[in-house]
Amino acid sequence: MTDRYAVIGNPIGFTKSPFIHGTFAKATGQDLSYEAIEGPIGGFAATVDQFRADGAKGLNITAPFKLDAFAYATELSESARRAGAANCMKFEGDRIIAENFDGVGLVRDITINLDVKMKGRRVLMLGAGGAARGALLPFLRQEPSELVLVNRTLSKAVALAEEFAGCGPLMISGYAELADLAEGYDVVVNATSASLRGEMPPLPGNVLRGAELAYELAYGKGLTPFLQAARAEGVAKLADGVGMLVEQAAEAFSWWRGVRPSTAQVIVELTVPLS
Ligand code: ATR
Repeated sequence: MTDRYAVIGNPIGFTKSPFIHGTFAKATGQDLSYEAIEGPIGGFAATVDQFRADGAKGLNITAPFKLDAFAYATELSESARRAGAANCMKFEGDRIIAENFDGVGLVRDITINLDVKMKGRRVLMLGAGGAARGALLPFLRQEPSELVLVNRTLSKAVALAEEFAGCGPLMISGYAELADLAEGYDVVVNATSASLRGEMPPLPGNVLRGAELAYELAYGKGLTPFLQAARAEGVAKLADGVGMLVEQAAEAFSWWRGVRPSTAQVIVELTVPLS
């Protein structure tokens, strides 16, 4: 029997997940269907109740439902618990097991696809919202020499630093103070939502200079102001979040089906040139 999966979000029209999972299923010979569900705001639980009653096996969750999914689960993985949000669920009888693969997908894209090592390197993360939170533990597990979290609203960065104290060398900073740092960064990740509105986080001029990689979490937006600034500073590698998107999908697929799909070709097909 064909097993049913889906992604739920609102809006959902833009989603690439049915294409990605459909491609994975074909390539690995898995018998599954994967659809996109536009969940009504405030109606997440009722929609997923119905999907499960129809015999579905699992679900990906995108904005704005990652916190609803976290609350809906009966079991949370360590990464979902730490992220405070879920982007994937597996249904087994009454069990609703929640995961969060965003952070591990990002790390795989950086370290494997882009071949940029994080161990012993200096990493700067812009933003302290949900996207940044989900990446903190997977980043610290890579053992950077220092992970600096910078946010406009410092109190949010302070709260995250307290929560992740003891997990690794996590420091916080305001944007203006970054200008005073003597050392530069090897990897700079823009986990703010600024690019969605064509805005640039208020990074002092010299911060991107000498970095090996500038990574924009948003995808399909071409050269965002952040990536333009990185290019102007001569950063060697520029990337957007398409690889992260495909890698988190591959993690979900492996978890659901017990077989790991290859990602390279799907990433190529979804890549919008950065120029
Ligand atoms: P997400 O789930 O995508 O992380 P979020 O939780 O709303 O979204 O968080 C948005 C993040 O982008 C926050 O860190 C926000 O900074 P503040 O906490 O100071 O609001 C950051 N952000 C949004 N627009 C920004 C901008 N123009 N410059 C710098 N940071 C910005």
